[in-house]
Amino acid sequence: MKKIILTGDRPTGNLHIGHYVGSVANRLKMQEKNDYEKFYIMIADTQALTDNADNVDKVKNSVIQVALDYLACGIDPKRVNIFIQSQVPELAEMTMYFMNLVTYARLVRNPTVKEEIKQKEFGSSIPVGFMCYPISQASDIVAFGTTCLPVGEDQLPMVEQTREIVRSFNATYGDVLTLPEAVIPENKACRRLVGLDGNAKMGKSLGNCIYLKDEPEVIKQKVMSAYTDPDHIKVSDAGKVEGNVVFTYLDAFATDKSFAKYLPEYKNLEELKAHYRRGGLGDVKIKLFLNNVLQDLLKPIRDRRKELEKNIDEIYEMLFENGRKAREVASETLNKMKDAMGLNYEKFLKTK
Ligand code: TRP
Repeated sequence: MKKIILTGDRPTGNLHIGHYVGSVANRLKMQEKNDYEKFYIMIADTQALTDNADNVDKVKNSVIQVALDYLACGIDPKRVNIFIQSQVPELAEMTMYFMNLVTYARLVRNPTVKEEIKQKEFGSSIPVGFMCYPISQASDIVAFGTTCLPVGEDQLPMVEQTREIVRSFNATYGDVLTLPEAVIPENKACRRLVGLDGNAKMGKSLGNCIYLKDEPEVIKQKVMSAYTDPDHIKVSDAGKVEGNVVFTYLDAFATDKSFAKYLPEYKNLEELKAHYRRGGLGDVKIKLFLNNVLQDLLKPIRDRRKELEKNIDEIYEMLFENGRKAREVASETLNKMKDAMGLNYEKFLKTK
């Protein structure tokens, strides 16, 4: 079967290293593998608006920032279609039809949406658009005949909801839509990177993340402030590795090569952890090591980003062109759906 990959992000700010390990690195691997027929990355501005109705500027301005981050990381616009969700209005029409296939009770049960409602402190003022975004996301996915969805664990309920909609649509109207499959990153440490302060969530408002575009001094200062083991007071004390942000990040980013380059007295992370647990290894040393690892990762990304920033118009043109192509595909799927549903009124014309 031909492989069609689709994934996306809400544009609500710059991408950070959590995005990098959680999704971008995985996308780069898929791009290199080159075993797909189509690969789409959607900048989901419409979805971002479901909880930012009064903050369109933030969403609108983040679109180009996210596009720059993708390109700076090495996503190749010749091999991957990066486009803006709102430029494919067919998705909204599909959503109208899908809404009739999902019960209210089912929406309310979605664990990711439940969690977000708590976090966002909506109280009793939950926008209907927000409640329904899993249905709109199903449109994002099925419009392009997606077979493969590289996403984080938090997106699994959306994929499940999409699969239910596909089954229901196909059973009700005829076999039109493709059943997608989620693919989540293998490395556990990468699935959800904690914030620098140990908080489960990374975010701008929490001030606990390192952005892909951060300058070297900012990265270093953030790394030096990372949460470690509060009971590891003297260097000679035995330290805890679990829940220690520096080790969590090293799990995600350090390779044996990083050791050869910056800490040759240890072969690998296991040896470093063992020393920390035994006592005799200070936090400054592990933080400086993590800083070196992150500086090496982020420098080429930052440099490329600065180059790309000189040609913003070109990037917008690329997004528009890709949006037009995406729209053609979505429009084809929508027509098939309406045909299957019997909403093809042209057939009533007597002259045809
Ligand atoms: N829900 C995703 C997020 O919060 C963004 C998204 C929108 C998406 N549409 C998508 C992801 C389709 C994968 C496929 O980041």
